[in-house]
Amino acid sequence: MSPALDIVGEPARPVAATKSWLKEKNRAMARILYVTFHGEKHEAEVVGGSTVKDGAVDNTIPGIEADCGGACACATCHVYVDPGWVDAVGAPAAMEVEMLQFVNDRKGNSRLSCQIRVTDALDGLIVHMPSSQH
Ligand code: FES
Repeated sequence: MSPALDIVGEPARPVAATKSWLKEKNRAMARILYVTFHGEKHEAEVVGGSTVKDGAVDNTIPGIEADCGGACACATCHVYVDPGWVDAVGAPAAMEVEMLQFVNDRKGNSRLSCQIRVTDALDGLIVHMPSSQH
């Protein structure tokens, strides 16, 4: 049986070892602040190349359900990008725009967090959760 692989195709390893390995390999990590609808703040270090949704799910941060696992098919990973970060995050692709029709209380800064790819340029990103994903 082959070993489990992490998101970059390397054998899975403990979190502390992963951070050290990422530093050695000069891979990006970004600190992301997730703010729940009720104002609870959760900060996570998220590996570059993964998504804002992955950062929430991997760190068991409440408020992002991600029923489809990140396939842009469920709209249950809805977040509001903090106004100061909208330009850095960029615009959604056409498929995401289609899916955003299905979120509750859509706003101009609404995004599906599974479609926001993490780079070191997003270090410090703040996203806010909606009141519900359904
Ligand atoms: Fe399903 Fe993002 S996780 S659309």
